[in-house]
Amino acid sequence: MVRTCKECGKEFVITGGEIRFYKSKKLQFPRRCKQCRGKGKNSVKTNEAIVILYASSHHGNTQKVVEAMREVSGAVLVDIHKDEIPDMSNTKALGVATGIYKGKPDEKLMQVLSGLNVSPAVDGFVVTTSGSGKDYSKIIRKWMNEKHIGDAGSFTCKGFDTFGIFKLFGGIAKGHPNEKELSAAKQFAKELTAKYIHRESEKNA
Ligand SMILES: Cc1cc2nc3c(=O)[nH]c(=O)nc-3n(C[C@H](O)[C@H](O)[C@H](O)COP(=O)(O)O)c2cc1C
Repeated sequence: MVRTCKECGKEFVITGGEIRFYKSKKLQFPRRCKQCRGKGKNSVKTNEAIVILYASSHHGNTQKVVEAMREVSGAVLVDIHKDEIPDMSNTKALGVATGIYKGKPDEKLMQVLSGLNVSPAVDGFVVTTSGSGKDYSKIIRKWMNEKHIGDAGSFTCKGFDTFGIFKLFGGIAKGHPNEKELSAAKQFAKELTAKYIHRESEKNA
């Protein structure tokens, strides 16, 4: 069977043996060629170096920011309301990302953090979005200090906010995070990648 790879656009062949294998396991036939599938495997291995635990319950504003960060760094994103905490034994930089709710980070996120065992070799970074765009990283930084986690910086931007009376007039910070903020988020993540992924692999080479 010949298919066109949805990633690189080249044709690739699924052999009779492979067809039988996928059918026996009731799996869908692959949509990407072997090379493109292989690339993914390599990047997953490297990308565990950056993990971001996030909470984004209001409008998905924080999720947009961390997804932009993942695009350029391949960071592993963990929605603490849905996902399990992964094995972080290869993690070099741990991001904590949240919307701000009545001046505070997401409550469940803080609960998860208080029970988390983090290696002292890990550095932490904070990502927040809020209606005002103010820096609300203090509580998370306090947690980092208590756990002796090094500081890898923080990223803050506005996020669309329809909480309380703001809803009556259509919300504040409409359109945020915007393109400019998402591109600044990417830049922040690129710098983390240079520090925690590229330099590490140079050391190991
Ligand atoms: C219950 C609630 C309380 C909020 N309190 C604040 C606040 O104290 N300060 C602020 O700047 N924004 C506040 N906001 C706005 C959110 O921080 C902002 O919309 C944020 O981007 C939400 O992120 P999310 O979409 O990832 O959940 C509040 C929003 C909600 C729903």
